[in-house]
Amino acid sequence: MTDPVYVTDALIAEDIDAYLEQHQQKSLLRFITCGSVDDGKSTLIGRLLYDSKMIFEDQLAALEADSKRVGTQGQEIDFALLVDGLAAEREQGITIDVAYRFFTTEKRKFIVADTPGHEQYTRNMVTGASTADLAVILIDARKGVLTQTRRHSFLAHLIGIKHIVLAVNKMDLVGYDKTVFDRITLAYRAFASEIGITNFTAIPISGFKGDNITALSDNTPWFKGPALIEHLENVEIGAAADEAKPFRLPVQWVNRPNLDFRGFSGQLASGKVRPGDAVRILPSGKTTTVDRIVTLDGDLDEAVAGQSVTLTLADEVDCSRGDVIAAADNPPEAADQFEATLVWMADEAMIAGRAYWLKLATQSVSATIQQPKYEINVNTLDHLAAKTLELNGIGVVELSTDKPITFEAYGDNRTLGGFILIDKLTNATVAAGMLHFSLRRAQNVHWQATDISRDMRANLKNQRPALLWFTGLSGSGKSTIANLVEKKLHRMNRHSFLLDGDNVRHGLNRDLGFTEADRIENIRRVGEVAKLMSDAGLIVITAFISPFRAEREMVRSMLPEGEFIEVFIDTPLADAERRDVKGLYKKARTGQLKNFTGIDSPYEAPESPEIRIDTTAMTPEEAADLIIDRLLG
Ligand code: ADX
Repeated sequence: MTDPVYVTDALIAEDIDAYLEQHQQKSLLRFITCGSVDDGKSTLIGRLLYDSKMIFEDQLAALEADSKRVGTQGQEIDFALLVDGLAAEREQGITIDVAYRFFTTEKRKFIVADTPGHEQYTRNMVTGASTADLAVILIDARKGVLTQTRRHSFLAHLIGIKHIVLAVNKMDLVGYDKTVFDRITLAYRAFASEIGITNFTAIPISGFKGDNITALSDNTPWFKGPALIEHLENVEIGAAADEAKPFRLPVQWVNRPNLDFRGFSGQLASGKVRPGDAVRILPSGKTTTVDRIVTLDGDLDEAVAGQSVTLTLADEVDCSRGDVIAAADNPPEAADQFEATLVWMADEAMIAGRAYWLKLATQSVSATIQQPKYEINVNTLDHLAAKTLELNGIGVVELSTDKPITFEAYGDNRTLGGFILIDKLTNATVAAGMLHFSLRRAQNVHWQATDISRDMRANLKNQRPALLWFTGLSGSGKSTIANLVEKKLHRMNRHSFLLDGDNVRHGLNRDLGFTEADRIENIRRVGEVAKLMSDAGLIVITAFISPFRAEREMVRSMLPEGEFIEVFIDTPLADAERRDVKGLYKKARTGQLKNFTGIDSPYEAPESPEIRIDTTAMTPEEAADLIIDRLLG
């Protein structure tokens, strides 16, 4: 079904360029509607589209692409049909995502994110809310403030939406009774202040009848306004407030068309900047001044929050993608440990200790999350103890990043305080997060520079450090081959150290078992120890099942390029089980041993290991020789 173009603006027919120009000049309000179909959400959205001069977003693009097609003056559409269409669309799309609808009035353009209201769609609501300036919380006048009203309000507030509209709908069904409206407003005010919403605008409406949508209704003479669309048109949005904050520009890319020009491009997250302003580059902390503000339309005297520009700087300072250019006298902090709220958005639960990609503004780092401090029940707002976060779970966590990031508290700056987490293997977005503050321990523990470098230590031993990381099933032959490799290295006067799973689990890691989380922590610690040993100049050999790709990749990323050598001891499960040196497979098969790798716990084989040893095709001696060859050759 293709939607017809409902355009009644005469200017379009006469002069499309003038129309589009006028359209471009209007400010844009993004908002989200929260409520369920029962509350009359589709009816309300239908009403907004119907009562305004409605153009769907894709149709606007079509207008721009092909102005010739615009001759069709608007025809009357049937309101009921429109609402039915929206509701049907909503039902079909309900599990998929967020529906964005575009409409415009004389004063403003609007994008409304229409998200399903049920608890199982929390992630959709968070997605829709993440870019919104305003939330319309819809209430059925006959029902009043419900659990879902609380949930929606909490989420809207959590995401940092400043403007809340309480739309008390279906007023026609309660006889436009002022006392009903007042009672609901009062109840909502009490709840709102509990969660920190200090300000909201309550409007009695009927989406179905059109009361107080575009104009004040005669049915509610006691209501002095504003009508909904009037409010949406006039509410003050983002830009002005953001301009008053200190200047920050996250650098998106370095613009270097030739040797004479070096500019730093990005969108101002907050504040203003002018040529001559003193700025500081973070995280390095270097200072310089702004030389020019370059745009496609020429140089500017001033750029403000929301604008995309290219800055040139007076000095040749180091600055690259991910850095933040900020007001020199009021820069944001850089830190690598934080407290944050996380909204979990993936079907797979959060795994404490696993490294995820964290993207914040233009920065991308590796981050590990600790077990949640608590989970928040979005309906009651109670704090619950939790080990993980499941889909749609919201919790407060501590996390650490592998490099410092430049940030601000989410409450102060959505751009520099909001982030997403990405699974390193599937590339799926698994969580949205909001930074609260950096942890003091991160601020007060500084890296101590020492005078003897890892190169100096290795040189003394006359060798290059390396980490031979063995991985494979239990009983695959890791320990046997690793032991042979170390013996050979020793004979060649190489300084080495072998860390073996069974042994390390007797000491350093004796507090760990074989759950997914414990195995991840096992490998994290072994990785850290192996790194220290390689810093000491040693050739380190580790023999751990290390069943998960993500953690092996994490260790790889901790070492200098080329030093991590993944050695896959590739023994088919059937062979390892047949050998069953420790009798553990038998126990696992008979249910006496739980979570056994290969039986009821997964093993993720390396995709492209540096060395693959097929133990069915060579002896341990041959395998050891091959590994030494690859290491030293
Ligand atoms: S890892 O998965 O965390 O890397 P690690 O290599 O340290 O495992 O320890 C594996 C050794 O522990 C095995 O060789 C085996 O001897 C013993 N073990 C005991 N229980 C299990 C289990 N459930 N799964 C795998 N190995 C186990």
